[in-house]
Amino acid sequence: DWSATSFIENTVEWLRTRIGDRRVICALSGGVDSGVAAALVSRAVGSQLTCVFVDNGLLRLGEAEQCMDVFARHLHMRVVKVDATDKFLGALEGVVDPEEKRRRIGRSFMEVFEEVAPTLGDADFFAQGTTYPDVIESAGDSKRHSSAAAKIKTHHNVGGLPDTMRLELLDPLSFLFKDEVREVGRSLGLPEEIVDRHPFPGPGLAVRMTGAVTRERLERLRRADHIFISELRAAGLYKHTAQALAVLTSERTVGVLGDARTYEDVLALRAVDTEDWMTADWSRFSHDFLATVSNRIVNEVPGISRVVYDITSKPPATVEWE
Ligand code: XMP
Repeated sequence: DWSATSFIENTVEWLRTRIGDRRVICALSGGVDSGVAAALVSRAVGSQLTCVFVDNGLLRLGEAEQCMDVFARHLHMRVVKVDATDKFLGALEGVVDPEEKRRRIGRSFMEVFEEVAPTLGDADFFAQGTTYPDVIESAGDSKRHSSAAAKIKTHHNVGGLPDTMRLELLDPLSFLFKDEVREVGRSLGLPEEIVDRHPFPGPGLAVRMTGAVTRERLERLRRADHIFISELRAAGLYKHTAQALAVLTSERTVGVLGDARTYEDVLALRAVDTEDWMTADWSRFSHDFLATVSNRIVNEVPGISRVVYDITSKPPATVEWE
């Protein structure tokens, strides 16, 4: 007989007691978990909370603006936005190995926090959106990505924060499953596009393109991804698939445009049905739906002339390509 309303009441009460008149920092990622954690803390202690949102240049189309819109303007939370695109893209220059991309992104996040820390005032707590499955995953560590995922998560928390900050952790969601986090988010007034959002990896679009990360390739992937996700929403399919994404491959193939031969990128679409992300099956979208998405992408995104749909289950394939 779990209910979002009583969870919120109890957690707000617990947070108030624990925090007292001290200050809290929270790193917003744009995703549902960190957003709900921040909104809970904000409900509990209001202006004692400062959120940090790092725009690493690896986010999806409009994501940074939307995050600022929802949390700063709509929910009236204090959000410090750090535009660190140059720093992250600089650190990623020429890097093609997926784990090396993750390492450099992790390091860059930490450096950004070091730089921004002095401007945040004297905080005692760091709130984060760790959920129950995250807790189990970090304990188990058997999955291919789990250590990387845990690392990406820890750079947001004490493990990766500058030592001088010495913050106590607050994990208000650590006993909740994703669906419960979503319900709590709705009750707290977060908009549906944040609440129902599919998981998005910490390293962002950097691990959704094989090969090197460049501004031009990011832009191309962003536009293709946006078309895929918008069409899923328009067709009412977004909520019926666990995770959908576009991958910019480093493959180029021959195409035709009018009388001319082209040699352009191959984009892959990936969507999976899963409960726990340990195993997953590819989503059986209709051929007509896939045709609509494919036509839009090749017509609207310059540089992409071929679209493929990934029909591999996990295992042996993972959800992400990197
Ligand atoms: P895989 O590709 O391992 O993905 O089947 C399973 C789930 O984990 C997410 N994932 C990540 N999340 N940092 C994250 O925060 C990462 O480095 C990372 N790698 C994979 C993936 O999006 C999927 O939901």
